[in-house]
Amino acid sequence: MDAIPQTMGPQFGRRSWAEPWKIKMVEPLRRVTAAERVSALRAADYNTFLLKSDDVYIDLLTDSGTGAMSDRQWAGMMLGDEAYAGSRNFYRLEAAVRTHYGYAHILPTHQGRGAEHLLSRCAITPGQLVPGNMYFTTTRLHQELAGGVFVDVIVEDAHDTTSLHPFKGNVDLGRLEALIAKEGANRIAYVSLAGTVNMAGGQPVSMENVKALRVLCDRHGVRIFLDATRMAENAYFIQEREPGYADVPIAAIVREFCSCTDGAWMSGKKDNLVNIGGWLAVNDWTLYEELRNLIVVYEGLHTYGGMAGRDMEAMAIGIEECLQDDYIRSRVGQVHYLGELLTDWNVPIVQPVGGHAVFLDARAFYPHIPQHEFPAQTLAAELYLDSGIRAMERGVVSAGRNPETGDHNFPRLELTRLTIPRRVYTQAHMDVVAESVKTIFDRRAETRGLRMTYEPRYLRFFQARFERL
Ligand code: F0G
Repeated sequence: MDAIPQTMGPQFGRRSWAEPWKIKMVEPLRRVTAAERVSALRAADYNTFLLKSDDVYIDLLTDSGTGAMSDRQWAGMMLGDEAYAGSRNFYRLEAAVRTHYGYAHILPTHQGRGAEHLLSRCAITPGQLVPGNMYFTTTRLHQELAGGVFVDVIVEDAHDTTSLHPFKGNVDLGRLEALIAKEGANRIAYVSLAGTVNMAGGQPVSMENVKALRVLCDRHGVRIFLDATRMAENAYFIQEREPGYADVPIAAIVREFCSCTDGAWMSGKKDNLVNIGGWLAVNDWTLYEELRNLIVVYEGLHTYGGMAGRDMEAMAIGIEECLQDDYIRSRVGQVHYLGELLTDWNVPIVQPVGGHAVFLDARAFYPHIPQHEFPAQTLAAELYLDSGIRAMERGVVSAGRNPETGDHNFPRLELTRLTIPRRVYTQAHMDVVAESVKTIFDRRAETRGLRMTYEPRYLRFFQARFERL
């Protein structure tokens, strides 16, 4: 008995959780040398999106399409029915979305932005406003390209990285009501609601908020469309934090939440645990008919929408797996493990830690670097130089320019995202990541900012180039 460490075992008052899976196949990682990192980052002009994946050690660029599929999903890939029309896998996917998200009419799309494109074109009349709980890059761009004007109506706390509000993704209902009163309900295309809110740090929306939003929107005849990309993670926070939901299964919470909305779009590459794919779902038949007509122009026939049959099968299985309570607890638990390590070391991060990523507060990290010298982009570059870990900028570069004035949009949040892929890395990887962040934090005073040398027209963060000041 003497050999048992004091911290282990229930008899000492501690119970750990563990991933509800074991590893069956592994992919080797390469440790990249310091000299290789310097030359790779220079060749990528300080933009982590332009690095070759072979030059990356631990890849926390995104949780999009980077998850590990289960053995059941891989088995499902062998059941692909690659018929052009009416593939059996489409009907499996349709049934899974109907059962678990509850919408009536389902269209597959090649990924989330394919669905955003179609919905924006069919549900926005040029000149209309699209209020939402903080912008997302591709979502807002498609709304703008369709002639809409995005209006941020997220709660004020979302812009404060230190606020401990449990639902920082909530819609500020007072602001929305005032907007409708000022502009008239006819000028509102729909409310663009995301659960969780990526750009705010993966912050959730409460059930109370979505229910009140439904009441408000019904009063004015305004529709609500949901970005369901990380809705399972949102449901986890409701279960954890909202009175009355502690014993409600994740799947039931997702169903209840979605029932307050008129439809949803999905990037299946996140919650739904596939490497590619998405879907669009609405309850209104007339809108569905328009979408179904447009999908053949941009995505493919309405029974495949740009996806292979086997990929639709994997997504149908992924939908079931992502709603299991044990899975979602370990998924968000791993993100929180990393967040707690960094918090213990006083590294400034968005609090509370969100569902899919730990967001470093680059403003607080580098108070001496002004926002026009891209502190969050700089932080991502420094992290790569230190250890070969790849992160992503979510600050002024991601926010782009104001389409009318041409000036940078200067968001209040200047963040660097450490995004955790699903079912891919272990706790030991999280330790290595935290130690690298700590190392660059300790030498932060010496770090200089960046200058942009090339700027693409759309979604500039993907392909912009920089040099060191
Ligand atoms: N909505 C949200 C909330 C997203 O995070 C994304 C993608 C999309 C829509 C678009 O989906 O990539 O399948 O076309 N987010 C990725 C990220 C790119 O890294 O956060 P997509």
